[in-house]
Amino acid sequence: MSRNDRILVASAKGGVGKSTTALGLALAFSDMGKSVLLVDCDISSRSLDLLCGDDSEVLYNLGDVILGRVNGEDAVLHPFAEYPDLGFCAAPHLFQDEEAFEKTGRHLEQLAGEAVMQLAERVPRDVLIVDTSSGGGVTCAGGMADTLTTVLITAEQSHTSIRAAEYTAFQMEKIGIKNQRLIVCSFDAQAAAKGQRAGVIEMIDRSTLKCAGVVPYDRRLVLRQENGLLPDRKCISRAAYRNIAGRLSGENVPLFTGMGRYGRKRSRIL
Ligand SMILES: Nc1ncnc2c1ncn2[C@@H]1O[C@H](COP(=O)(O)OP(=O)(O)OP(=O)(O)O)[C@@H](O)[C@H]1O
Ligand SMILES: [Mg+2]
Repeated sequence: MSRNDRILVASAKGGVGKSTTALGLALAFSDMGKSVLLVDCDISSRSLDLLCGDDSEVLYNLGDVILGRVNGEDAVLHPFAEYPDLGFCAAPHLFQDEEAFEKTGRHLEQLAGEAVMQLAERVPRDVLIVDTSSGGGVTCAGGMADTLTTVLITAEQSHTSIRAAEYTAFQMEKIGIKNQRLIVCSFDAQAAAKGQRAGVIEMIDRSTLKCAGVVPYDRRLVLRQENGLLPDRKCISRAAYRNIAGRLSGENVPLFTGMGRYGRKRSRIL
């Protein structure tokens, strides 16, 4: 197994590409031939079931694992025929919180990290990827801190987003998580080249995080997500996530590999 086989995606800020990154990496690792367990821990704003194409098949979820109703595999779906080794566990429903609190004296969010570890023991895969909520990433990571190999912190180019990345990194550090990496999401290269928005180096400097990769703004990805479709190979983000998965697996992949014009404009965008 690789050193980076247990990955949690986080940011204190909402809407900065956490879920897109979790799914993008799950597909990328699958493309590399690895088996993947993707778990949604975003209780307040569960979205991976929708991004995986459909929520109607979600019978059991992580909440049922927490409540002891199901035993591992039953809570894991295989939503993509082309990726039979990609398992997905949906986020708990908010209404399960009351029962969880009655049974354990703790809320779902506080129980999620431990439940993910239980699930990962019962359903072992090469790579575990955990998506978290904007408020709950650190709490979730706390339940799995000893076993996490990498925390990926996503940020867009806005000042608030970069500040949230720095704050998240600080909180993760406090619970002992050392291996943290920045993922730059929805990167607007044109604005960076014109000096209108932060470039990659500025984002690294300001967040104080090492960067695992840059995902360009990808309109095709947005339209496909809205229509319940996976990003296809024409999506530039697909190449970006493939590069990131390669780096996390120890490959030496230059920043804009496979991204055409981004590679050519590299010096201006950075
Ligand atoms: N590379 C990209 N290019 C264009 N749009 C993107 C990209 N990545 C994410 N988005 C869009 O940004 C929005 C937020 O993305 P996403 O849901 O992944 O963020 P999140 O951090 O998980 O949000 P939340 O905090 O609500 O869970 C979505 O509409 C998504 O389509
Ligand atoms: Mg999300």
